[in-house]
Amino acid sequence: MGKSLIISNIKRLVQVEDSPRLKVCGKDLSEIRTIDDAWLYIEDEKIFDFGTMHELPDEKCGYEQADTKIDAGGKIVFPSFCDSHTHIVYAGSRETEFADKIKGLSYEEIAKRGGGILNSAKRIHDTSENELYEQSFRRIEEIITLGTGAVEIKSGYGLNLEDELKMLRVIRRIRETSPLEVRSTFLGAHAVPQEYKSNREKYVDVVINEMIPVVAAEELADYIDVFCDKGFFSVEDTERILMAGIKHGLLPKIHANELDFSGGVQTGVKYNALSVDHLERSGDEEILALKGSDTIPTLLPGSAFFLGLPDPPARKMIEAGLPVALASDFNPGSCPSGNMKLVMSLACIRLKMLPEEAFNAATINSACAMGISETHGSIARGKVANVFISKEIPSLAFMPYAFGSDLVEKVILKGKII
Ligand code: NIG
Ligand code: FE
Repeated sequence: MGKSLIISNIKRLVQVEDSPRLKVCGKDLSEIRTIDDAWLYIEDEKIFDFGTMHELPDEKCGYEQADTKIDAGGKIVFPSFCDSHTHIVYAGSRETEFADKIKGLSYEEIAKRGGGILNSAKRIHDTSENELYEQSFRRIEEIITLGTGAVEIKSGYGLNLEDELKMLRVIRRIRETSPLEVRSTFLGAHAVPQEYKSNREKYVDVVINEMIPVVAAEELADYIDVFCDKGFFSVEDTERILMAGIKHGLLPKIHANELDFSGGVQTGVKYNALSVDHLERSGDEEILALKGSDTIPTLLPGSAFFLGLPDPPARKMIEAGLPVALASDFNPGSCPSGNMKLVMSLACIRLKMLPEEAFNAATINSACAMGISETHGSIARGKVANVFISKEIPSLAFMPYAFGSDLVEKVILKGKII
């Protein structure tokens, strides 16, 4: 018998499932099952059981014998957020570009001047692997306190083999040393490095022939990503890279339709991508392409907000029955925040998603978009015990409503109080 933990007197236990689903689609997104006046019993790292206080089965659960007892004191318990799209491993910051943007330069204009991703690439090059880990781990600690329990992290600020490997090794070290569930994505095709400026295809060759085989051989990534967009990589580049990744066992998960109707969504669907992310430039054709597929449309309202981009058509996607997911895109250029509660607020306020829809999108669907929804993303027996206890709040909707308040009081990851 491993360590056990019981949380009692829970005002509301949110997003409980008796028969867990891998994702939630369309109008089902607006439903969240909750249990009022509840208890939750955790054993080892997993959720063992839950129920209502008036039928707390002492003997079955060994409530009295639990190693640790928490009285939630009438507060709400939520499943931890899953953040299926981040670039949390980066060096330094880019607030000078923030000011440039305020003065009127666009994201593409900043990138063209050698700022943007190339700016971060230079900083990665000049930073040791240890220092990069230290800097990134501080952000990891921050998102843990904000309620995140699982995170996908991308490379893509290396843009040469050595520096991409540096980033991927830091991701691996985070996976080994943090209590978060971590998935790793190789994003060598994030931007075209300066020296290949007039020869993009050559850089694509490098990604395919020199990077992917090493990344795969060292088992440093689960997924392959490409920034398929105007001014970055074309549909043709993307197809070549995805095919090479798939050959090496890496599942596609791509950046699409952020800056233009790039064809990225259709390409992702064609290659059975786990998710296509951003989608600010999406219309009926993109929604139609997604409809007949298993690809999860992942919206990143933090970066659309930060860059002043148009909002993706979340309502139309939900009406079309799609399993919309939410993620932060935490990165130094387009979303210097990994606050998933704020992401939910933005989804509600800007994308007109209901609080319940935002919750499902930020937990179970985001877990699905990182391939872990069998074990994460809801409160179900046998799932990993990643939950948090809120501060005293009146309802579930209060979380995205009180957009500037930190409402996470106690975090439990893999059954341990953090
Ligand atoms: O998801 N869109 C491409 N990549 C990141 C931004 C990276 C950066 O500007 O550093 C994004 O928004
Ligand atoms: Fe991104």
